[in-house]
Amino acid sequence: MAEQTALEPVDFVVVANRLPVDRKSDADGNSVWRTSPGGLVTALEPVMQEHHGAWVGWHGATDEPLDPFEYSGYQLVPVPLSAQEVEEYYEGFSNGTLWPLYHDVVAKPEYHREWWDSYVEVNQRFAEAAAAVAAHGATVWVQDYQLQLVPQMLRALREDLRIGFFLHIPFPPVELFQQLPWRRQIIEGLLGADLIGFQTAGGAQNFTRIARQRLRLDTHRESITLPSGRTCRAAAYPISIDARGFETLAQSQPIQQRARELRHELGDPEVIFLGVDRLDYTKGIYHRLRAYGELVAEGVVDPAKCAFLQVATPSRERVDEYKRLRDEIDMLVGRINGDFGGIGRPPITYMHMSFPREEMAAMYTAADVCVVTPLRDGMNLVCKEYIACRSNNDGALILSEFAGAAGELRQAYMINPYDVNGMKQGMVLAMNDTVQNKRRRMRALRRQVFTHDIDTWADSFLKDLANVPSNE
Ligand code: ADP
Ligand code: G6P
Repeated sequence: MAEQTALEPVDFVVVANRLPVDRKSDADGNSVWRTSPGGLVTALEPVMQEHHGAWVGWHGATDEPLDPFEYSGYQLVPVPLSAQEVEEYYEGFSNGTLWPLYHDVVAKPEYHREWWDSYVEVNQRFAEAAAAVAAHGATVWVQDYQLQLVPQMLRALREDLRIGFFLHIPFPPVELFQQLPWRRQIIEGLLGADLIGFQTAGGAQNFTRIARQRLRLDTHRESITLPSGRTCRAAAYPISIDARGFETLAQSQPIQQRARELRHELGDPEVIFLGVDRLDYTKGIYHRLRAYGELVAEGVVDPAKCAFLQVATPSRERVDEYKRLRDEIDMLVGRINGDFGGIGRPPITYMHMSFPREEMAAMYTAADVCVVTPLRDGMNLVCKEYIACRSNNDGALILSEFAGAAGELRQAYMINPYDVNGMKQGMVLAMNDTVQNKRRRMRALRRQVFTHDIDTWADSFLKDLANVPSNE
């Protein structure tokens, strides 16, 4: 980690709940920095390396104020959270209320007034931290559901700024959103931005509809007119990855070698299935492993010839739904392996840990079938990472129709994760399809991912934001 620096006002500021690095304690109790989990960091890191400026966010520890410091060519501005705020704002309102509500209520959202109060207070702190580091007329790009009040709060502090907002998760249909006791405040908070980006056109339309119906605002296509006469645009910008970076890494000699080793360590199977996720109930991990377990039980998949590698990053471990999910997955994997495994041959190799990018690239390179089965997902970057690593146009992607990525990756083997038989058929087809069919599909998928990478995403959002008429 580089040295601390004085806070210099900058022209480009990203504000996100998390910084790209997370402060953790190692086995000896020493503080160490690790890459933060999740797709937001994967996507925005290369954007910051290109645009420089400052990233304002929480550093993952509690009750520990830290000075700004330089990292990877840009400034990190840590925002402190108390233990109580982590419980109420982060685990509570962000991940116990908004996360399930915005993901089709696949878990039950909880509504607590003290969680909301903490959310307001912490959003104000982030707005103030961003205002303090932004130069006059700067562009400030606020990220994700944890900070939906920041655009309005920031505008109240600094009228000179150009404010963008991007929601990395789905924006729910009005029928679900209106459960939220604080729905009006959230909409007004977001409308503080000049441009609001969503993963899909459906999300942008849901938002525009609620602004029209709840706030009685005039809307015309992507444009929403506020009482002040200012307009805010709400449009889709499907996020992506550094496709070329992943491809280059995957093609390198050490990663190719590591991919061969991985296959060997898995017992040189004919087919490797791969699942890569944060351990989250939205990802459909249970559904996918259950379907695979049934294929093994029925003898359709022979565990002597096939291996399923599932890696899951620990996530939000103090939230009840996540604890429950972990137990359920442990039990399911244990049962399948106990019933059908041979010595040194478990049908499922399950690892509850996170890996460096190099190891991920080796897994993607080794896998014959990548299985991505969310019940609902804003985008899903894992499927794009897999595609980027398949430079021989081989491999097969199974993709849930409920991932935002399904709108772009039409040539995947599409499945409905709620339909166990359909998912089993998808797995069998992806495993047994002809080489020509697989190549045809993968070629089309690669064309999409390489022409719509993270640079395209950031450039199109920032260009549209720059074209918003100035307030001055
Ligand atoms: P989400 O943002 O909901 O976690 P995404 O699929 O959009 O889902 O992004 C997940 C990111 O986390 C990807 O960049 C993926 O490579 C990374 N990731 C997932 N599981 C692991 C793991 N076990 N170790 C390291 N990185 C992981
Ligand atoms: C998703 C969210 C991000 C979040 C990430 C990891 O990608 O959209 O905002 O940072 O998951 O979750 P965590 O709660 O660990 O930050």
